[in-house]
Amino acid sequence: MKAVLAGRGRPDAAPVPAPPRDWPLARPFAIGPVVAPNRVVQAPLAGIANWAFRTQSRRHGAGLVVSEMVASHGVRHGNERTMRMLAVLEGERPVGVQLFGADPAIMAEAARAAEDAGADLVDVNMGCPVPKVRRTGAGAELMGEPERAEAVVRAMVDAVGIPVTVKMRRGLTPATSDPAEFARRMEAAGAAALCVHPRAAAEEYSGVADHRHTAAVVRAVGVPVIASGDVTSPEGARAVLEETGCAAVAVGRAALGDPWVFRAIATGAAPVSPSLEEVVAEVARFARDLEQAVGPRPACHSMRKFYAWYLAGRDIPPGRLEALQTAPTLDQALALLDDLVAAPA
Ligand SMILES: Cc1cc2nc3c(=O)[nH]c(=O)nc-3n(C[C@H](O)[C@H](O)[C@H](O)COP(=O)(O)O)c2cc1C
Repeated sequence: MKAVLAGRGRPDAAPVPAPPRDWPLARPFAIGPVVAPNRVVQAPLAGIANWAFRTQSRRHGAGLVVSEMVASHGVRHGNERTMRMLAVLEGERPVGVQLFGADPAIMAEAARAAEDAGADLVDVNMGCPVPKVRRTGAGAELMGEPERAEAVVRAMVDAVGIPVTVKMRRGLTPATSDPAEFARRMEAAGAAALCVHPRAAAEEYSGVADHRHTAAVVRAVGVPVIASGDVTSPEGARAVLEETGCAAVAVGRAALGDPWVFRAIATGAAPVSPSLEEVVAEVARFARDLEQAVGPRPACHSMRKFYAWYLAGRDIPPGRLEALQTAPTLDQALALLDDLVAAPA
């Protein structure tokens, strides 16, 4: 996880100048009838992008948010935890729910359930490199089986009235990749938009995202393309937009512990460096939402990684982060967090 998360950006401490007037990411974009007010998408993040994280992303200016990946088999079996993951709040729209699976009928059924639960669009995970997922034929494995991938998309498009989108990678390995060809096939199968993370599955999260492959997809299809990978700043986002001609950018790791990054990228303003008081207030609000979304114990556990993300680079007394991360309840952790503001040294 540590290596995976190494690409996260941190905000600069620079003063905030007025945002440029004609900032290209500030314009709306549409996926079929779904209109996002700007071109910054919160990327799907497994184990993270539940409704608490998504509403926070929207509150901080993301134009479109996407759920963590949800198992289509879990939906079929009515698994309680999986069904909770489908929940969508009114305040987070527009929101996409991402599904993973390799069986067209089961994916179609899960897409209907997501639509019934209130999703504005449903996304298919064709990028997950985790062996446990790939072994079932799902995630990135679908890029090696384009006929099956097409069948999945077609079945879902036939099953729902909302747009069906695809999140893909460059391919399985750099040597075997033809993302433009794969993207054309997904578009022909009915995908209303594509999100491209241009690393191959075999590369996982190593190296840098080479958005020339995203540009090749943009040239190959007529539907909107969202570029995902290493977008951490307003200038970086604009460069990707200009270099690829994509409709929008997605932000994943850079938003972990820094929800403020969404508004900076969406408006072109310099990244903000919130005060410790602001960070603590934000963490507390998020933690309480998370408690409602996943329950007290999982929230207490899940918050441990967030404390580290939010406090990274901050001058806090030794031992305080460890104390937060080992607090047995959320209430105790949040009290310790308050102490940090009351007596920071
Ligand atoms: C912890 C973690 C979880 C992720 N979970 C998902 C997921 O559930 N579905 C998906 O399509 N991509 C997932 N991704 C990939 C991201 O959506 C994104 O494409 C990738 O991290 C590159 O973008 P970034 O540099 O902005 O993080 C995940 C990435 C990370 C680091």
